[in-house]
Amino acid sequence: MSRLVVVSNRVADPRKTAAGGLAVALAEVLNNTGGMWFGWSGKTIEPGEPGPHAQERPLHTHQAGPVKLVTMDLDRQDYDAYYGGYSNGVLWPVFHYRLDLADFDPAYITGYRKANQLFAQKLRPLLRDDDIIWIHDYHLIPLAAELRALGCTQRIGFFLHIPLPPPLILAAIPGHDWLIRALFAYDLVGFQSNADHEHFCRYVQAEAHAQDLGRGRWRAFNRTVQAGAFPIGIDVDEFVALGQASEGREMYERMTREYSRRQLLVGVDRLDYSKGLPHRMQAFRSLLQNFPENRRVATLIQIASPSREEVDAYTDILHEIESLCGSINGNYGELDWMPVRYMHRNVARPRLPGLYRASRVALVTPLRDGMNLVAKEFVVAQDPADPGVLVLSRFAGAAEQLKEALLVNPYDIEATANAINLALHMPIEERRTRHQALLATIRRCDVHWWCNTFLETLAHTQAEVSGTP
Ligand code: G6P
Repeated sequence: MSRLVVVSNRVADPRKTAAGGLAVALAEVLNNTGGMWFGWSGKTIEPGEPGPHAQERPLHTHQAGPVKLVTMDLDRQDYDAYYGGYSNGVLWPVFHYRLDLADFDPAYITGYRKANQLFAQKLRPLLRDDDIIWIHDYHLIPLAAELRALGCTQRIGFFLHIPLPPPLILAAIPGHDWLIRALFAYDLVGFQSNADHEHFCRYVQAEAHAQDLGRGRWRAFNRTVQAGAFPIGIDVDEFVALGQASEGREMYERMTREYSRRQLLVGVDRLDYSKGLPHRMQAFRSLLQNFPENRRVATLIQIASPSREEVDAYTDILHEIESLCGSINGNYGELDWMPVRYMHRNVARPRLPGLYRASRVALVTPLRDGMNLVAKEFVVAQDPADPGVLVLSRFAGAAEQLKEALLVNPYDIEATANAINLALHMPIEERRTRHQALLATIRRCDVHWWCNTFLETLAHTQAEVSGTP
């Protein structure tokens, strides 16, 4: 049987709990299949630090159960240009439809290419002929092209965890044609949603004049690539078990005791401008303003885990949210009730199911999101006899699947406030019906389904012998 080699910027020990949708999902996949997980070590080498040159630097290897973790360090300058610069200063904002936040500094793309070349050079000698290689996310789009240039003929798949915007937004990136051309080095390219997949099809037709071979296959640059939507899921049983473990149960009991006279709303996000946190705070403020019966009752717990603090747009959003929370609490708070409990900190994953189960409503209202696994985890954590309600942005990839959530346009503050009010007062029968339907979808399309469908499709793509696109 072929070995699975997963490559992503972030690598986490699959036996420990990780933060961030990608690391959690990949850990779950690899724990089942075994194989190798290759990526960045989390360490940067400062200029002037003694030691070998990047090319000669040894890799870090660590056997974690059935998974071999192999990671590499990056030079500080390369890392800054590749991660903070091109990945999170260009690709992340543009792919989340935020051209206004993109910084098209030409030095960034050089660092991005250099880091991808280094990934390829380090990975190449570790590969076996019959490996199946699965590369993840926007940090590593050109990696297959770099591997092909070094003679790799193995099947290589790519999954984009974040949205792909419409062609004219993509086309604003200087060098966008190079980026999309690089996707043709893969055998299979997967997206989170049908909308993202459709953007890809429209882009390759209009900008690359690709030939439509049918059944998701496209021919351009002397290569054929297959593309499709593979919405990522969660490990339902793992999350249920986490909720039944002591930390999950204790958290649930503590929250229900502490908030016995309140109704809890919960938001758990990385502190990122794509998550729509200021809009969410404004909607919550409108709820308190327009529906005063919720005052002294509704309490919003918002956890915003620190993220990418070296990128300016992330510090700007931090100040905006702090000021909004302060003004809501200042205007509406009482001696014995604070409307918003805001935490700029990580919450240990084992506590999340308890927090979700104790909450009547989850606010998952990103302005754009590839999928959003918090939405799925919230549903799974609920008590089926008395479930909470999911308020979900129509602009999260999850909205294509989770039709029984209360879908909102997060830019429409008043409409979102109305939906939150509806969620807080939804009759139990309706809550149960919606929850049952959501849970069935989440169970059907779980992380194993996602992984198997992607890998089976990859295995059945027609092998290509030609080299780089
Ligand atoms: C998103 C991305 C992942 C990334 C994660 C955490 O889910 O799709 O690729 O790993 O955010 O962000 P970070 O920049 O900390 O890796």
